Amino acid sequence: MSIKSLVGYQVLDSRGRPTVAVSLTLSDGSSHTARVPSGASTGAHEAKELRDAGTAYADKFYEGKSVNLACENINKIIAPELIGLAPDPWAIDVILNGLDGTPNFSKLGANSLLAISLAVSKAAAAKAGKSLARYFQPEGKLLIPMPMVNILSGGAHANRTMDIQDVLVLPNGASSFTESLSWIVAIRECAAKNGAKFGTTHLIADEGGLGLPFASIDAACEFVTSCIEEVGLKVGTQVSLALDIASTQFFDSGTYSLPTINQEFTSSQFVKFITKLVADQPILSIEDPFAEDDWAAWAEFTDSAPASLQILGDDLFTTNIERLRRGIGDKCANAILIKVNQNGLVTHTRDVLATAQSANFKTVVSARSGETEDSWLADLATGWRASQIKVGSTHGADRTAKWNRLLELEVTEATEFARPF
Ligand code: PGA
Ligand code: ZN
Repeated sequence: MSIKSLVGYQVLDSRGRPTVAVSLTLSDGSSHTARVPSGASTGAHEAKELRDAGTAYADKFYEGKSVNLACENINKIIAPELIGLAPDPWAIDVILNGLDGTPNFSKLGANSLLAISLAVSKAAAAKAGKSLARYFQPEGKLLIPMPMVNILSGGAHANRTMDIQDVLVLPNGASSFTESLSWIVAIRECAAKNGAKFGTTHLIADEGGLGLPFASIDAACEFVTSCIEEVGLKVGTQVSLALDIASTQFFDSGTYSLPTINQEFTSSQFVKFITKLVADQPILSIEDPFAEDDWAAWAEFTDSAPASLQILGDDLFTTNIERLRRGIGDKCANAILIKVNQNGLVTHTRDVLATAQSANFKTVVSARSGETEDSWLADLATGWRASQIKVGSTHGADRTAKWNRLLELEVTEATEFARPF
């Protein structure tokens, strides 16, 4: 069975912005579609997403955000090279990598390459008669990752109502994914109800979280812990907090500036600030507490933090194997956020994740703030045995598509639930 046709075209993501889709047809007539996500608080070291701003391809109504050039690269340059080949993601990714030839896929665009890489993976799984999760792990029980779910949003996702990007919950005491999701929905509903008491209608942020103003990070944490208690769950043993500080967003020339709490910090002052925050609040995981190139702060904090704390690198690593290797060697962080479009190819992303797993780093597979209704992320996280998955909140079809797929996997496949903490 071989690739008969492959067409790239523009669709919309959850922010209503253009993104790339690919529909691939195999010689048996079956059709396989994949759509790529897009970030807002992107790291400088991510693979390059090609957009049309400043080119003749730009559609004026999309303010330079159209992706016509990426689609043309698929249809005119890449597709002719792939027609007639078997849908093998490892072999096709080698070809895609070679066709682009740049380290960050700036020639053809990571968005065009990833759409193809994903469509080929889906086609390969279908050809093998398996789900995408089972395709990557053919034998044994699948591991359903623990969800890390957004309750409060700030930063670039919520008009900067808070300086930090996410206050999330980790259902570390749940015994199944199905149970964990019911807990989280209750907490999210309680937060929406109590948030309404703030007076103004709260903003629903890009990832479905609540955009509420808080006078401090501690106050935001205390609001969420009060909701955990109010729904009858135990803080710490059943549900804990996770934060995405996304600090690159408010770091400039050696200074961390938090405007909503009106404070500025040097790197070493910010290490102390974060150290106190994780000691005072029931936090199990902290993401991007320091800026993407502030390696010294990461190393200092990792050395002194409690061993039980998950220190998670997103913009720090950008799902890039070299940056991960540096982090492992320099003992910066102990966990990696895996975003497939930061990398650009499915099999390369899996290699990054496997490298992290063999260094005993925890792995958190993550969506982007601009998503689609596609659910491949849930299958990849499960088939790759990631310990956690981060998809935003429980609102919006772009988010529930992934949660609902995990609910489906839990009942249709032989699975166990990850208990990473
Ligand atoms: P992004 O945010 O998709 O806007 O980059 C997600 C995150 O920072 O984890
Ligand atoms: Zn992040």
